Amino acid sequence: MRKPVIAIDGYSSTGKSSISKIIAQKLGLVHLDTGALYRGITYFALNNCIGADGEINLSELFNRFNEIELEFKPVDTELVMFLNGEDISTAIRTNEISQNVSLIASQKEVRDFLLDAQREMAEKGGVIMDGRDIGTVILPNADFKFFLTASVDERTKRRFLELKSLGIETDENTVRENLISRDKTDSEREVAPLKKAENAILIDNSDFTKHETIDIILSYLKEF
Ligand code: DC
Repeated sequence: MRKPVIAIDGYSSTGKSSISKIIAQKLGLVHLDTGALYRGITYFALNNCIGADGEINLSELFNRFNEIELEFKPVDTELVMFLNGEDISTAIRTNEISQNVSLIASQKEVRDFLLDAQREMAEKGGVIMDGRDIGTVILPNADFKFFLTASVDERTKRRFLELKSLGIETDENTVRENLISRDKTDSEREVAPLKKAENAILIDNSDFTKHETIDIILSYLKEF
C-alpha cells in the first residue's frame, strides 16, 4: 500500500519540525525539515560569500551553487543535515543564521535551486515534509496538508527554550524580534510566500501541548 505524503506548513516555532518528527516515527514515514535546507545555504553564504561591505554577496552565492551539496543523512533515528560532508545540524540553529535565513529564502534563485530536490524526496510517498510552501508550491497534490499557527508570545517562549536546550545563549527579546521580522519577510516575499494552502487544515496550537497537536493531526490521518 502506498504511504501518504503529508505537508506541514506554518509560522516559525509552531512546533512543525518536532511534531513532524514524532508523527514520522509513529507512522513509519520519513521526516524532511525543509527549513534546514535554507539554513544550510545561509550557513554556506555566511562562511563563503561575504562581500567587502560585510554583507552576504548574493550574486557570488548564486554563482557558487555548484559547490553546495546538501544531504539529509540518517544519524541514530533521525535525518541530519550535512553540507559537503559536514554535520551542520547544530551550527544552522544559531541566531546569526536565523537573522539571515529569510533574506536567503526570499531569493528566487535559491528556491529554484532547491525545488526539484524537495519534490524528488517525496516522489515515492511515505514522507512528512515541513516548511513554508510545501502545501502551496512544492507538493500541491499532497494527501494531507496542515497549517500551524500560534501566538507570538507562545512561539517566543518555545523558541527560547529550544535554543537554551541546544546551549545557544540568547534572550527572549532577541528571539521575539527575530520571529516577528521573519514572519514578515516570509509572508511578504514575492516568491512562494508563507501562506495557508486553500485546502490545508488550520491548527492554532497556542493553547495545545505538542502531544495534543500531534493527536489532532493523527485524527485526520486515520482516514488514509
Ligand atoms: O523552519 P525554520 O525556522 O528552520 O526555517 C528557516 C527559514 O527558512 C524560515 O525563516 C523561512 C525559510 N523557509 C522557507 O522559506 N521555505 C521552507 N519550505 C522552509 C523554510
